Amino acid sequence: MNPENIYPRTNDHETVYLKNVIKNPNILVGDFTMYNDFVYDPRQFEKNNVLYHYPINHDKLIIGKFCSIACGAKFLFTSANHTQTSLSTYPFPIFFEEWGLDVQNITNAWDNKGDIIIGNDVWIGYEAVIMSGVTIGDGAIIASRAVVTKDVPPYTIVGGVPAKTIRKRFSDDDIAALQKMKWWDWPIEQIQAHISEIQTGKIEGLKRKYL
Ligand SMILES: CC(C)(COP(=O)(O)OP(=O)(O)OC[C@H]1O[C@@H](n2cnc3c(N)ncnc32)[C@H](O)[C@@H]1OP(=O)(O)O)[C@@H](O)C(=O)NCCC(=O)NCCS
Repeated sequence: MNPENIYPRTNDHETVYLKNVIKNPNILVGDFTMYNDFVYDPRQFEKNNVLYHYPINHDKLIIGKFCSIACGAKFLFTSANHTQTSLSTYPFPIFFEEWGLDVQNITNAWDNKGDIIIGNDVWIGYEAVIMSGVTIGDGAIIASRAVVTKDVPPYTIVGGVPAKTIRKRFSDDDIAALQKMKWWDWPIEQIQAHISEIQTGKIEGLKRKYL
């Protein structure tokens, strides 16, 4: 196993370790986070999935480790939000040449809602949309086709338009334990040694050992 590979699965070119196909310095992705795309080349994630994300805004997409991002999930950044502070939502500032406006004011065309931050071990479902300014906690699940407009607490499943809580994944006690344990930051050998407990949901042994 090697988190520096692009393709973690033999003969599967639809699934990539995302961090290894990212070139934009404003997109930061943790080890083992994977993206699957059966429609387009998954190596085109920056172009096809991170939308309205212009360098001039300096806003960031930060994604933790061990996330699973399904085909067609989209991250909609600030420049998608035509400003609502002016009398018109028409983006005059981006047509500065047409209207003789100062190019320096181009970012006045949109309202800046900021970075999108995704925790660790987050599963983002098919064609979900995450809006700018949203933070998604560790272990959350985003349902297919959800439109996430507000922050999502750790280990919470959300769905719908706009996305609302469906339920928590575990008891508050276990969620606190998982967040303290942060298994995703363990050395690879330690994760490997405990895969069966992680996989089968047996948290008690891990709590005894690591908390
Ligand atoms: C969110 C999800 C994980 C919930 O699965 P689940 O735990 O089995 O939940 P259930 O099917 O029992 O549904 C629980 C509730 O959530 C609702 N729900 C499920 N999926 C939903 C969705 N995509 N959008 C909105 N609501 C959804 C159900 O209608 C149900 O509502 P109710 O309690 O009012 O009856 C799942 O439906 C989903 O969207 N998975 C993503 C699949 C995907 O995109 N995979 C891509 C490949 S990795």
